[in-house]
Formats: sequence, structure tokens, C-alpha cells
Amino acid sequence: MIVKPECVLGLATGSSPIGTYKGLVERYKAGKISFAGVTTVNLDEYKGLSGTHDQSYRYFMQHNLFDHIDVRPECTHVPNGLAEDAEAECARYDAFVRSLGCADLQLLGVGRNGHIGFNEPCDEFVVPTHVVDLTESTIEANARFFASRDEVPRQALTMGIGVIMGAKKIVMVASGADKADAVYGMVKGPVNPQLPASILQLHPDVTLVADKAALSKM
Ligand code: GLP
Repeated sequence: MIVKPECVLGLATGSSPIGTYKGLVERYKAGKISFAGVTTVNLDEYKGLSGTHDQSYRYFMQHNLFDHIDVRPECTHVPNGLAEDAEAECARYDAFVRSLGCADLQLLGVGRNGHIGFNEPCDEFVVPTHVVDLTESTIEANARFFASRDEVPRQALTMGIGVIMGAKKIVMVASGADKADAVYGMVKGPVNPQLPASILQLHPDVTLVADKAALSKM
């Protein structure tokens, strides 16, 4: 049941949400849902990749969702990885997402190291949307999508913890044994910026959708 046809959807990339996007495309093609009034805001983008690069998150979103539904192209938003001034682009994006009132529903995956968006383990939670240096663990995990490890961008633009936590509802999808430590720490561990997803313990409306392997340490 669609309760808010003109909602703001916060979207994620990675392998975790692909099934969700397939399901949404199927429902759209079956005439059950429409995205004509929807605005989308994506979590993050690699710094230095254009939207036409096949590993950019803009490209991922076009191919996995936007090109197959009736969302208006001008209502789909992904940080601009090619912005000359990446910090200014982050500030613009943060203000824009806040001007929408943040997402009505934010979809999230989780990194093996507990990152959300590209909020990497850190000494403090980073509230604003920012440019981040990707950790070795993330570069390693994402190298499988690039021709070689050297081609994986070393930086990204990511929504900060502020606008992610500003979402009214959050749905996290986690699958596979390589997510088990992150899921355990997120749910059972202390709220700790070294495991950024643990901040979700402070959000009032989070649903975790996980398979047995991802829950195996619980
Ligand atoms: C990337 C994205 C995250 C995503 C994570 C996990 O680093 N920036 O938003 O959650 O990968 O990806 P996967 O679902 O492929 O394991």
C-alpha cells in the first residue's frame, strides 16, 4: 500500500539493495506502483567518477532502477563525483537533502567494517555530508567491481550521519557471512564511531532485513 506517493526515498547502492530494486521494478511494470511523484536522494558517490562510468553510483542507479521506472529524471539526486569543489558539493547536497526534510524512508546496506553510506570507521561520527578517504577494507571489498584494485577511487562524497539519521524510517538490508561482525556490532555493541552503523541504535524506526549468515554472530 502506498501511503505517500510524493515521498522522498533515500537510496543505496552495492549488491544488498539489488533485490529490492528488482522487486520495485516488477511492481512498477505490473502497474502496482508509480514513482511519478517521488524524489530520490542517494547516499554517496565515488569522487572522480562521472555518472557514465560503469562503476559510478549514478550509473548503478540508472541501470538498476531509474531507467526502468517512471521517476522524473530531474527528481533523482546523487552527489556529483566530478564537482570541481567536492567540499562545496557536499555542503550543497546536505542543504538540499535537509530542504526536503530528509528521506521519508532511507534504504541502507552496511559495509564489512560497519560503514553506512561511505561513513567509514572514525574517531567521531561525522555529521555533515563530507568527502571521505576510503579505508583499505572498503577499497578491498569494492575492488571486485573494478578491472583492478588500482582503479578503485580512494575518496567518496557521502551523506553524513546527520541527514541519514534525519530519515523518518530506515530499512537496512544485510546478507552474507562477511557482514556478520558488522551486524552484531551494530545491534549488540556500544554506539561507537568505529562501527558507524551502531548509531542506528539511536534511531526510533529501523528495520533490519538480514539472512541467516549475516545474523550468525547474534
Ligand atoms: C558500498 C556503499 C555502501 C554499501 C556497501 C556494502 O561501500 N557505499 O552504501 O552499503 O558498499 O555493499 P554490498 O551491499 O555490495 O555489500
